[in-house]
Amino acid sequence: MWLASGAVGLATLLVAMAPARPVTIALACAAVGIEYELCRTGAETWASESGNRVELVQSPSLANNRLGLFQQLLAAGSGDIDVFQIDIIWPGTLGRHFVDLRPYLGDDAAARHFPATIENNTVDGELKAMPWFNDAGLLYYRKDLLEKFGHAVPATWQALATTARAVLAAERAAGHARMVGFVFQGKAYEGLTCNALEWLASSGGGTILDRNGRITLNNPRAIAALERAASWIGTIAPKGVLNYAEEEARAVFQAGDAVFMRNWPYAWALVNGVDSPVQGRVGVASLPTGGPGERGMGALGGGALAVSKYSAHPAIAADLVRYLTSPEEQIRRAIAGAFNPTIPSAYRDPALLAAQPFMARLYETLTNTVARPARLAGPRYNQLSSIVWNAVHDTLSGKGDAAANLAAAERRLQRLSRDGQW
Ligand code: GLC
Repeated sequence: MWLASGAVGLATLLVAMAPARPVTIALACAAVGIEYELCRTGAETWASESGNRVELVQSPSLANNRLGLFQQLLAAGSGDIDVFQIDIIWPGTLGRHFVDLRPYLGDDAAARHFPATIENNTVDGELKAMPWFNDAGLLYYRKDLLEKFGHAVPATWQALATTARAVLAAERAAGHARMVGFVFQGKAYEGLTCNALEWLASSGGGTILDRNGRITLNNPRAIAALERAASWIGTIAPKGVLNYAEEEARAVFQAGDAVFMRNWPYAWALVNGVDSPVQGRVGVASLPTGGPGERGMGALGGGALAVSKYSAHPAIAADLVRYLTSPEEQIRRAIAGAFNPTIPSAYRDPALLAAQPFMARLYETLTNTVARPARLAGPRYNQLSSIVWNAVHDTLSGKGDAAANLAAAERRLQRLSRDGQW
């Protein structure tokens, strides 16, 4: 009797101790700068600790191309990818394809993040993705050149243009023929919507939609802000900027060929990397304002991790999400890649503060951002954004003026929203 029950007990114990059959989780990460590499190292640590495997799927670096690919896969109900890195603007568009993470990860995991990032990823009461990093548009500048020619860090867009022109002229006169004044994301894609929103919001030109979803895009201050940006093309900014996304802008700035750059925090780790020609010669600040009484504001960006409803292993996939979005992993990514944590307590971590002092210095800038109207527009956000970036791109390219292009964009937005009802 004893023997028999002892044998059963032992068998149960052995089963419990045996590692569960390893499962392979496919994870689609973005690949801007060293993002893919950081994703891989994090996911591999989880795999070795949990006894599972990860298969990394590289996805396009342009936000809208990534969205198109994910939409195709998810609309087909494909279980090929278990975990998706999604953009902060996509929960409304893709949310219905993702599991609610709360039952898997518990309320505590969500409670440690900035409440706004959790709210952003919540659709119809379900937590569709766990915040992974936050982004905010920043102004990068060449500290050495501003010092050399006696200029302050520009507080207004006007001052940015004047300083860029002066430094550019001096550098060119000294034989630096490739030098340009300002690089940013001017290609017709999501990144241009972010840049344009910053120009508008810092100039009293609104935020495309107001709080109630009313379309405010077409207004005199927005028109003036766009005209100002159009005046940069071919003067302080190269014409090529009309085809720059994040990495093209960084390449020019990092090569030492631009005085100013607008980019996200990830660029900080790279422009200061050991192999960067401008290492130690770069400063970072809040974006300029349109003038007195205005505030410079970075667009809110960022990423989150979601588990597909079509995954064969949602619990294990959710465990990978738990690991990657944990404070420890977010701090590792902040130190190695300047990815901003979505967990307030991480900003008090001594190792992070020692490695990235700008995160404490610019804490206000990094956390007081202007959000794109993605929650208001819901699944129609990508169409809204493409109307905006096309109108802006046309204006920067000299195809029609800001007033005509914004008026046309306003009409398109009205049709898209059925007269302001999103
Ligand atoms: C960054 C931001 C993201 C934004 C994208 C635009 O990846 O994190 O939110 O949509 O840039 O290019």
